Amino acid sequence: MSMSIKPETEKAIAALATRYPQKRAALIPALIMVQNEIGSLPDAIQARVAQLLDLPAPQVKEVVTFYPMLREHAIGKCHIEVCRTLSCAMRGSRTIVKKLEDELHVHAGETTKDGLFTVGTVECLASCGSAPAMLVNGNYVENVDWKIVEGILAKVRKGEKPL
Ligand code: FES
Repeated sequence: MSMSIKPETEKAIAALATRYPQKRAALIPALIMVQNEIGSLPDAIQARVAQLLDLPAPQVKEVVTFYPMLREHAIGKCHIEVCRTLSCAMRGSRTIVKKLEDELHVHAGETTKDGLFTVGTVECLASCGSAPAMLVNGNYVENVDWKIVEGILAKVRKGEKPL
């Protein structure tokens, strides 16, 4: 993955900025565009987006760190996001996160050294009736138990798709 923004994407961002009365309004769509291209939004890339939209770099950072769909660090091939809100917590989601952390030697929010897994927690996924719930690369997995998680880990380790 390249660590600079492609010229055509920069052009698209410039075009986007002209569609809004204030360039700032183009920030989130621009960041999403760049993240889709690069995979994450590290500092140097944030600085470039700030430059393109005439915004102070701290303002870009604020937005990147505020919105859960934007990320500063690259994620693993398999992104596991476990719901930590009440219904899921009551049905064992915390234990699942803990076991994932132990098994993969990471803390929630981190990516394994081999780049295979990123583990995170999220707030209610609106799937409380089938708690505990989690997302795996954006897809719902419900009524999660450790056996299901183990199956996912095994598949990814074999180079297969997680689901
Ligand atoms: S509390 Fe986990 S999906 Fe709602």
